Amino acid sequence: MSKKNTGESVVRIFDTTLRDGEQSPGASMNVDEKILLARQLEKLGVDVIEAGFAASSEGDFESVDRVSRVVKRPIVLSLARAQEGDIKRALKAVDRARRPGIHIFIATSDIHMKHKLRMSRNEVLDAAVLSVKFAKKHMDYIEFSAEDASRSERDFLVEVFTEVIRAGANILNVPDTTGYAIPSEFGSLVRYLIERTEGSERATWSAHCHNDLGLAVSNSLAAVASGARQVECTINGIGERAGNTSLEEIVMALRTRKDLFGMTTNVVTEQIYPSSRLLSQITGIPIPINKPIVGDNAFAHEAGIHQDGVLKQKLTYEIMTPESIGMSGNRLVMGKHSGRHAFSERLKEMGFNLNKVDMNRAFLRFKELADKKKEVYEEDIEAIVAEEVFRVPGRPDRYELLYLNVNSSSNAIPSATVRIRIDGQECVDHGTGDGVVDACYKTIAKITGSRSRLVRYTVKSITGGTDAQGEVSCLIEEGGVRVLGKGAHTDIIIASALAYIHALNRQEYRKHFRQMVERQGP
Ligand code: KIV
Ligand code: ZN
Repeated sequence: MSKKNTGESVVRIFDTTLRDGEQSPGASMNVDEKILLARQLEKLGVDVIEAGFAASSEGDFESVDRVSRVVKRPIVLSLARAQEGDIKRALKAVDRARRPGIHIFIATSDIHMKHKLRMSRNEVLDAAVLSVKFAKKHMDYIEFSAEDASRSERDFLVEVFTEVIRAGANILNVPDTTGYAIPSEFGSLVRYLIERTEGSERATWSAHCHNDLGLAVSNSLAAVASGARQVECTINGIGERAGNTSLEEIVMALRTRKDLFGMTTNVVTEQIYPSSRLLSQITGIPIPINKPIVGDNAFAHEAGIHQDGVLKQKLTYEIMTPESIGMSGNRLVMGKHSGRHAFSERLKEMGFNLNKVDMNRAFLRFKELADKKKEVYEEDIEAIVAEEVFRVPGRPDRYELLYLNVNSSSNAIPSATVRIRIDGQECVDHGTGDGVVDACYKTIAKITGSRSRLVRYTVKSITGGTDAQGEVSCLIEEGGVRVLGKGAHTDIIIASALAYIHALNRQEYRKHFRQMVERQGP
């Protein structure tokens, strides 16, 4: 197991999956999903959790507030613009955190100041200092970010950082907001700032990189080599546009090349794989098979010469072990004779602490699956949990799939007959389409009267073999609101229908929730 470290040679891991990561297209999460992920991040051992941007919406405020209440060890932050209103909201949202903090930002590049903020350098400097001073009256832990730092004038950055340290900032963050920097350049910028900023030694320097040129991890490592002692990152590298620095890559690079960097982190690396899988389950964004560290192929040796080498001595081709990131070689879980107790123990080992009702629902689904499939793998169990636990909480589903029959042949139009229970009443219809999935989706839309648009549809096989479970994710949109649905089944047409029905149920929940909020007023 990884050990907890204290001292100078530690690089602090600042996780922003719940804030910058959630800005990733299609990655929005509801509050319950964020709580689930926040608990996993705590288990993973991250030092800081950026739980959201409290002033940006009621939903974000609630997420920051709830994460603050459940997380014990990491610092919990909210992002805030350099404005009193934002800061007050952020302070209120982290009020119940055991270790609260605030993250204030303002852009410092000429291009942002001129076109976005329409502020002069002096106005930006004043806003930065005033906001840090205001926050400092209420909170000790203050991070300040100079947005678009990598395209800002270096000496202006030095001036801003010097003044915000005087005003009380303890963490100084250098963002490569647009993913524009090149490692040698970014490393040199961080060194320049550390050397020239007055009071620099009293602060922790941090790097926040985006991956537009595929250099986020490299730039973050260059920053560490130049003296940064915090890296901001997200699980699976999700985030705005091409994403952020990937947590698993930066942590494993520092660990694997400790000989070079001489640095450690507090991350329990064995929790990396479960965290990566959990995020993928929640958002429905698949992990690319060749993704470093957590992709399915990350430890798979295909070439005979490699296999031979690895069998003789793993170090020939393996610089890390799958076990070190919590990807066990044997992910076979159990079969149809496994009992409830063994199942619940296994779920706990996998990081799922379910309440009794969810556990019973998951166990019934597991038994059904074990009857159809000889071997049940961890991935199958994850899919079941995702299906059962990420359902609309505390409210019966409006739609329930009762029956599905599809017809497909090389010389007939694909068709589907679907029966759905809507608010307790059975409705049935028949329709055709370009393929069986299309026929099935069109018929479901006809029965439910849904006007939503299908934005993304993905199918993946959860485990190997022709009896594998298929997992379908479908993202639908109506009135600008996007909702993700998931379904898993050994038959992918049924999985597709379940995913669509799941999305429609979640959409109903959102509508209901909005009506409640509107009725209650601001
Ligand atoms: O990319 C960026 O500049 C940010 C800041 C708010 C830190 O996300
Ligand atoms: Zn960012």
